[in-house]
Amino acid sequence: MLDRLSFIIRLVVAFYTALACAAEQEPLVLPGYKVGQSIPVSCLNRTIDTGEHITDAEGQLSYIPFPTCNETGRPLELLFGVEKDINCTIDFIDDPFFHLLEFYVHNDAPLTCRIPTKPLPPSLLVKEFEAGTTDNTDGQGSLSEVYTPMIVALTGTLQLSHLHVSTNLNVLVHAAPRAIAPGTIAAATAYSISREPPTRIVIGDSLPLRFSVRWYPNTSLPSGWAGVGGHLTFSTLVYCILSALASAAICVAYFRGVELPRRLKSHGKDRLGGMERGGLGGYGIVNGYGYSIGKRD
Ligand SMILES: *[C@@H]1O[C@H](CO)[C@@H](O)[C@H](O)[C@H]1NC(C)=O
Ligand SMILES: *[C@@H]1O[C@H](CO)[C@@H](O)[C@H](O)[C@H]1NC(C)=O
Ligand SMILES: *[C@@H]1O[C@H](CO)[C@@H](O)[C@H](O)[C@H]1NC(C)=O
Ligand SMILES: *[C@@H]1O[C@H](CO)[C@@H](O)[C@H](O)[C@H]1NC(C)=O
Repeated sequence: MLDRLSFIIRLVVAFYTALACAAEQEPLVLPGYKVGQSIPVSCLNRTIDTGEHITDAEGQLSYIPFPTCNETGRPLELLFGVEKDINCTIDFIDDPFFHLLEFYVHNDAPLTCRIPTKPLPPSLLVKEFEAGTTDNTDGQGSLSEVYTPMIVALTGTLQLSHLHVSTNLNVLVHAAPRAIAPGTIAAATAYSISREPPTRIVIGDSLPLRFSVRWYPNTSLPSGWAGVGGHLTFSTLVYCILSALASAAICVAYFRGVELPRRLKSHGKDRLGGMERGGLGGYGIVNGYGYSIGKRD
């Protein structure tokens, strides 16, 4: 009886040990994002003299949180799988940030940002919101698997005293197919809509960024152009075939009803005229008589 009890106890202890081990190993396989979960955006810190990226003592790239949005009081965040317009007004453009904007719109340096591919473990997440975190995932910086790069192609023009910045931006985010890697980001990009009127910026102004975020469930871009140059749909194909048949029918009807009788008539005339002209051409020179008769007719 006692033997059996100790056996059961040992079994239970072994079971819980195994469970604890599994739990300890779990952080290696990070869970994916849930729909609506927030995704912090961080960007490469750059020197304001040259626009060069900043590295720490170990030569690793220094990423800092995206500037704080006045609307939320927090750095820019995307929501997993949520398509929406996000307003992010950077309240006050100080001198260093203005110089960085000059580098971005003048294409001296890109606004290189990144988002965590999967939710970060709590230890890293805290650092994500601290100023001046360094990328200790590996020496490759944004190329590491933990983060997905998101280059923000901010466009505008450099003037003598001020900047014109296209502050309306599109953000495209691709998730990995759910069957393969649920809740995982596969690719991301953002770009200014340079067609729209830019915002005039001087030091001390606010920068009203307007992000239009769209999500894609896999890495292929759907065709967005239904008109000219778009892909051929079944209904377009049916329409083309029907209109081809209709125009063929109209052509046949026209030929039979109008063109053919006309040709037959003129062909009859031609034959008569041909005979006359035959007399003219074939024998006219020899037989000038026939020609003069034909002409008089
Ligand atoms: C940003 O928020 C502060 C405080 O909420 C407010 O005083 C300021 O006017 C806001 N700035 C802009 C550009 O909306
Ligand atoms: C964002 O700001 C624009 C004005 O610039 C406003 O029309 C729009 O309603 C705002 N959108 C959100 C989601 O706050
Ligand atoms: C970015 O780098 C500059 C220059 O090294 C530094 O002064 C600044 O504090 C850094 N920014 C943040 C948010 O850490
Ligand atoms: C990708 O997602 C789109 C929906 O946006 C779907 O129509 C398409 O079939 C998917 N492509 C692949 C290869 O799964």
